[in-house]
Amino acid sequence: MSRILSGIRPSGQLHLGNYLGAIKQWIALQDQHQAFFMVADLHAITTPYEVESLQPQIRETILDYLAAGLDPAKTTLFIQSQVPAHAELMWLLSTITPIGELQRMVQYKEKSAANPDFQNAGILNYPILMAADILAYKADRVPVGDDQGQHVELARDVAKKFNRLFGQTFPEPLAVFGGGKRIMSLANPMEKMSKTGGEGIALTDEESTIKKKIQKAVSTSEPRVIREAFRAAEQGERGPEIQWQGDPTLLKQFHGVRNLFTILLVLGLPKDTAQWKAAAEAGKIQFSQFKPTLATIIAEHFAPFRARREQLAKDETFVRGVIDEGGLKANQVAEQTLAEVQAKMGLR
Ligand code: TYM
Repeated sequence: MSRILSGIRPSGQLHLGNYLGAIKQWIALQDQHQAFFMVADLHAITTPYEVESLQPQIRETILDYLAAGLDPAKTTLFIQSQVPAHAELMWLLSTITPIGELQRMVQYKEKSAANPDFQNAGILNYPILMAADILAYKADRVPVGDDQGQHVELARDVAKKFNRLFGQTFPEPLAVFGGGKRIMSLANPMEKMSKTGGEGIALTDEESTIKKKIQKAVSTSEPRVIREAFRAAEQGERGPEIQWQGDPTLLKQFHGVRNLFTILLVLGLPKDTAQWKAAAEAGKIQFSQFKPTLATIIAEHFAPFRARREQLAKDETFVRGVIDEGGLKANQVAEQTLAEVQAKMGLR
């Protein structure tokens, strides 16, 4: 049975990208695998944050996990900083991680460029902590969005190197991607949807809010763009993305509508998608009709989530219990791995 680990930073409301890239896969995987899902609070503090907001945001993220359908009876839900072995394992793994590999990471470059006044070693060492998160549970599958793929590859390299230097210890973890592995910003489809950009669709958004946000999404009336974007969205579910080969000034429109079609394909029912596929093949989609339909599909998909979340928010005792129990289970597994690593490295 594969072991799975993944996590999300508690740095703002969870958005559609987090759900389609990560949580949707977690839910599908939790039945057949031994799974650990954490709130990555130690990663959240590598970029500027408000100290008073951190605890509420951690709790909000756990509520999101539970409301989305992660079942604490089947999986271990926990908070990263409550398992001290992650930070200690990170130190041990840092001694075999080449600095050049860390400097090559796309997110390191992006985050340090975005926060010129907050340059810190944590942003650079971020992927070593991710490797420790994954390897502490000897996870071999890591369900994430596209933007975390490079970090999982680094964890794989670290695992291989450790095994080579100190003897077989870790499986070589692989990233697992779903159909919504790269959901783009609605207003600027050349960038991914993020927690900081206000235009992201939050999982808690009501239908009217979703409608307003989707209304502003970049779209097109060009038949070729519509046709190829739909094909690209279908292809993106299965493998590498098709690139736009036409007029470069239409690139943004291509990505805008490809993004909307991707959301349709992962959330819509077959009867919804069949109708729009035929229209897209003919190059004839009126976005004034398509956008409200898509907003309704999204709102309906998350209606049970919103209702469950409201109920759970009132049940402080249950939520506390989940966090405490998850922390206990996670600590047991991670401490065992840490002890094994310490022994192999000659530290005990
Ligand atoms: P974070 O908090 O940035 O994102 C959480 C998850 O959501 C995915 N994601 C997206 N997927 C599709 N489209 C998007 N626009 C989009 N935006 C975000 C991310 O790929 C991720 O899967 N460092 C990690 C958290 C982490 C972790 C780990 C993950 C810490 N330790 C160990 C896996 C294993 C992060 O900051 O994710």
